[in-house]
Amino acid sequence: MTPQQIDLVKATVPVLRENGVALTGYFYNRMLGNNPDLKETFNMGHQRSGAQAQALAGAVLAYAENIEDPSVLLPVVELIAHKHVSLNIQAPDYNIVGENLLHSISEVLSISMDDPLIGAWAAAYGQLADLFISTEKAIYDQHQQTKGSWLGWRNFKIAKKVQESSEITSFYLQPADGGALPKYEAGQYISVRVFVEELGLKQPRQYTLSTSPQADYLRISVKREDQKGDFVPGWVSNTLHSLPEGSEIEVSAPTGNFYLIDSNKRNVFISGGVGLTPMIAMLNQLVTQDMPQPVTFIHACRSKQVHAMHQHIQDLKAKYPRLSTFTAYEFPHAGDKLGEDYDVAGRLDLSSLDSALLPVNADYYLCGPMPFMAEQQKALVARGIPAENIHSEAFGTGGVKH
Ligand SMILES: Cc1cc2nc3c(=O)[nH]c(=O)nc-3n(C[C@H](O)[C@H](O)[C@H](O)COP(=O)(O)OP(=O)(O)OC[C@H]3O[C@@H](n4cnc5c(N)ncnc54)[C@H](O)[C@@H]3O)c2cc1C
Ligand code: HEM
Repeated sequence: MTPQQIDLVKATVPVLRENGVALTGYFYNRMLGNNPDLKETFNMGHQRSGAQAQALAGAVLAYAENIEDPSVLLPVVELIAHKHVSLNIQAPDYNIVGENLLHSISEVLSISMDDPLIGAWAAAYGQLADLFISTEKAIYDQHQQTKGSWLGWRNFKIAKKVQESSEITSFYLQPADGGALPKYEAGQYISVRVFVEELGLKQPRQYTLSTSPQADYLRISVKREDQKGDFVPGWVSNTLHSLPEGSEIEVSAPTGNFYLIDSNKRNVFISGGVGLTPMIAMLNQLVTQDMPQPVTFIHACRSKQVHAMHQHIQDLKAKYPRLSTFTAYEFPHAGDKLGEDYDVAGRLDLSSLDSALLPVNADYYLCGPMPFMAEQQKALVARGIPAENIHSEAFGTGGVKH
């Protein structure tokens, strides 16, 4: 980019930010209106809640705002690239986004497409798009080279469903083509795509693989998102829960950069609700290695009724004395047993835990609702855990802060 182009982009960022929601909303309507096929790639739930409008175009704006020091976005490029790959986003898709973004800027600011400002934004976007395309190519190449892996969508059969709690069900998925499965890192996720009746569209969602790599199945564990107040029930989770065994769904290859980094180190897993899926996968991975180091497994949920995989953890605990657990029930039911089912009633408060459970020299893994993770991250840092040893996974969009 020329110095003039950089100045032009910087000068317009505040104006576009001021009209941020107008711009991002305009951009999405324009792009999905012109390319209705993309509705089967984007998460229409995030479109509905506005979360996605904050994410993609918001990230472009954040990048432009920091065009002289784009390092603000660099740490999350890998995270976004894995998500794009799991949704099978390809290089030509960047032209669609770019063209719609530039036209939206021109239309929202009422300037001609020949204006030098648009040229400057085209250069800024092009630079960012190139970075994503090359990062994603490296991930696609890796998938292509991994035995048993695949590119794009592959049909899987729901071989078995197992109810894990009143709202979480595990799905055992087998390739419809009968072919092999890849080894993946415990903690990684897949995208699943199903036809949602109410929308008349296919919809993708990400689900973490909830156990370590197996020879003949992938397993996901899905929380059924029920109606909350005025909000309609979750589209994909309810569709999945309603599908009988034997049904086929589309699945993309395991990917993601939240996974067990070092199985020989002390590991501490902290999860809230369905955020336990990557933790169970990592724990099961450690079990395959006979749990080389002590492990702490901390879980918070509302009560025993919604406590998934409780028995599995109890069984592992009986077998592996090196596994320490701590469970908080926010609203225990009358029959839930303190000291057996759970250790404390109320919200998880890490500041009150014994330091043997939270050693300083350990890798920490966090997953759960956003406010839960923010709270635990703060508490861990306050206990002297180095921030670089705390790794977290968000089960939603908007992981990029700007
Ligand atoms: C990397 C990753 C891993 C994940 N792993 C798992 C996992 O292992 N298990 C799991 O269960 N989930 C996981 N998720 C979450 C999952 O991808 C879905 O987001 C989740 O299942 C909800 O999808 P849905 O289609 O059912 O709900 P959506 O239709 O997308 O709705 C989402 C929520 O919004 C509410 N809502 C409805 N209307 C509105 C409105 N107007 N405004 C705001 N909100 C509204 C719905 O009630 C629902 O609770 C993961 C997500 C990511 C990104
Ligand atoms: C330079 C260009 C792009 C940027 C900066 C960008 C940025 C982002 C960001 C920040 C997220 C949210 C990630 C998260 O929170 O986990 C995201 C997700 C996503 N992006 Fe991109 N993106 C770009 C290009 C594209 C393209 C070309 C497509 C396809 C047409 C695309 C489709 C998606 C989809 C479908 C999601 C997931 C949506 C959701 O879950 O709601 N993006 N992108």
